[in-house]
Amino acid sequence: MQEHIDKYTSEIDGFSPANHDELESFRIKFLGTKGIIKDLFEQFKTVTAEEKRVFGKVLNQFKQLAETKYNELKESFDLQPATQNAQIDLTLPGEGFEIGSRHPLTLVRNEIIDIFKRLGFVVAEGPEIEDDWHNFSALNFPEEHPARDMQDTFFIKKNNGKDDIALRTHTSSVQVRMMENGKPPFRAIMPGRVYRNEAISARAHCFFHQVEGLYVDENVSFADLKQTLYHFVKELYGEDFKVRFRPSYFPFTEPSAEMDISCTICKGAGCNMCKYSGWVEILGCGMVDPNVLENCGIDSKKYTGFAFGMGIERIANLKYVIRDLRLFSENDTRFLKQFQPEVI
Ligand code: DAH
Repeated sequence: MQEHIDKYTSEIDGFSPANHDELESFRIKFLGTKGIIKDLFEQFKTVTAEEKRVFGKVLNQFKQLAETKYNELKESFDLQPATQNAQIDLTLPGEGFEIGSRHPLTLVRNEIIDIFKRLGFVVAEGPEIEDDWHNFSALNFPEEHPARDMQDTFFIKKNNGKDDIALRTHTSSVQVRMMENGKPPFRAIMPGRVYRNEAISARAHCFFHQVEGLYVDENVSFADLKQTLYHFVKELYGEDFKVRFRPSYFPFTEPSAEMDISCTICKGAGCNMCKYSGWVEILGCGMVDPNVLENCGIDSKKYTGFAFGMGIERIANLKYVIRDLRLFSENDTRFLKQFQPEVI
């Protein structure tokens, strides 16, 4: 028995498998249910009590040796399984990984921010859950006034029986927060998501994105407003189109206007994007109503200002000829992949 054990011990010591299969054969040979160790233990039962005392220890040491050897080898194979074992062809090209692309709304938002940053505007943000004061009252929407119906609102909480907390319907609420918390001059744009209680269709959605602009200082005039916005659309779309201002109404600006550009898709000839009018409205604007300045603690005798607000989706639709608003929020990678890859 001792002779056998000595022979096997040197076999185990010198064992160096080239692959997993050889290691598995080793396991079966020594440690398997019909293996050598099992067999030696069977033989052990038949030896004399005297021999048992000697061989018991030797046999256990031998078993431990085989087990340790197997476990060590297995661990080292498991750590680097691929190379020799699976015979992987290392000359094959690696798996490519796809670079994501920026969402079209992010691209347009960043472009708008870039243009206004060059004019000295800073970027400001505010909460999407707003109270009545910041979304309506401070902006000169009197309570019960029909102007509130211009925007279908998701109210989410009442205070003293009155609707008070809502998902903001426009980013104009950020103007109020900015003016309440600072001192003129203000020159900022405020991008963000807004919500309206509208049925979802190709042309309307219950949430969309706006960029608000605010410029308040001494002697700010409507001419400043027009020049700023002319410059903006030229930077955005180039020279090849016409611009017009139409009088309009917003509670928070007086006078108010809307700005149209000739349809960038049909070049003014008429198409379904511009509802065959040749013009597309791209933003609302006006001189900040003195009541709004006073509501925010700003002296309306000393300061004047202009404001504007635009929908990012509308601008992206025109830029990329996207005809269905739902595409922006469906996360369909076939749509998203079409936009410029992210440059790392
Ligand atoms: N808040 C308006 C809306 O959501 C857009 C707007 C119009 C913003 C005129 C302005 C503005 O700041 O002066 O329809």
